[in-house]
Amino acid sequence: MSESPDVLIVGGGLIGLAIAWRASGHGLRVTVIDPHPGRGASWAAAGMLAPVSEAHHGEEALIRLNMAAAEAYPDFVDELEAETEVPVGYRRCGTLMVGFDADDVRALHDVAALQGSLGLAVERLSGRACRELEPMLTPSVSGGIHVPGDHQVDNRRLVHALTVAVERRATLLRQRVTGLVVTGDRAEGVTLDDGRSLHAPTVVLAAGCWSRDLPGLPARVRPPVRPVKGQVLRLRIPIEPALFGGTIRWLVEGSPGYVVPRADGELVLGATSEERGFDTEVTADGVFQLLRGAHQVIPGISEATLTECRAGLRPGSPDNAPMLGRTAMEGLVMATGHHRNGVLLTPITARAIAALLATGEVDPVVAPFATDRFAAPAAPA
Ligand code: GLY
Repeated sequence: MSESPDVLIVGGGLIGLAIAWRASGHGLRVTVIDPHPGRGASWAAAGMLAPVSEAHHGEEALIRLNMAAAEAYPDFVDELEAETEVPVGYRRCGTLMVGFDADDVRALHDVAALQGSLGLAVERLSGRACRELEPMLTPSVSGGIHVPGDHQVDNRRLVHALTVAVERRATLLRQRVTGLVVTGDRAEGVTLDDGRSLHAPTVVLAAGCWSRDLPGLPARVRPPVRPVKGQVLRLRIPIEPALFGGTIRWLVEGSPGYVVPRADGELVLGATSEERGFDTEVTADGVFQLLRGAHQVIPGISEATLTECRAGLRPGSPDNAPMLGRTAMEGLVMATGHHRNGVLLTPITARAIAALLATGEVDPVVAPFATDRFAAPAAPA
């Protein structure tokens, strides 16, 4: 471990690891601390890169950030793969969103109108055209939207690649952070569960939904993140014949779901969205809802082998967007609250936070996502 790191990063999920990788590229000495790097939300995720198919009314600033993140992906992947020789399964496969009944298709067309109004590339399709693209779909699918620019990455391979890169260039400490060290009004380091303290001029809080609860964090800089539970299944199908073209998302009587097919025959089927605190139990109802939705749209999915059932905790924020940058506490920087888009936002978060750490400059692309935007306005004098 570097004796005198410039930066300590609390949390070694994709966000913390990628910030460490990029910051070390600026010449900074970085230590990332996490008892189980990449085994939280980053491991449970499906790896959809979905700035268009996850676009929602009222979230235009977030959509712009998500689009910028998608544009940053190819270079990020090229650079990481070249450095580590770990392929991360970035597939430019597009996404098909399908509606089961007429109401579902109307809801999708409403989304398509928003997407179109923002200049995002989408194409409305009949049920027949959807089945031509994805022959595994049931003939009962009423219609859909093709989103050619929403791709995928294998998030677990990405965790592996970033871990390799960080272990080469920085320090990855597999320990639990027990508290923030504060002197006066300044963050100066962290304490660890072995009783040691580490000190650095800057601490980056990138602990996902746990970021709010770091002992020692003053209330005024506590990020309003909360855990949003997602149950996710992993299945396996033969590679030959190739049964899926790309990601398929659906609405079945108003209930959403998706399947992300990997090149190696894995299918990632998600996801519930539940407000249940830090509960990570997989429930019979969660599994049932996921399989029922998938089976209604893709009946043949019942033939797949079920290999994993898991629940992860998304770091939800009040406006579904991340909190990125300096905080009101000297020495404390934050990168949390990525909610449903953590995998997508990894490259752009890493680029912006690493530049902030190295130069003090705020990348304009993350300026709307300042960490203090939820703070209560000061009372009039
Ligand atoms: N981005 C997909 C999900 O959070 O389920």
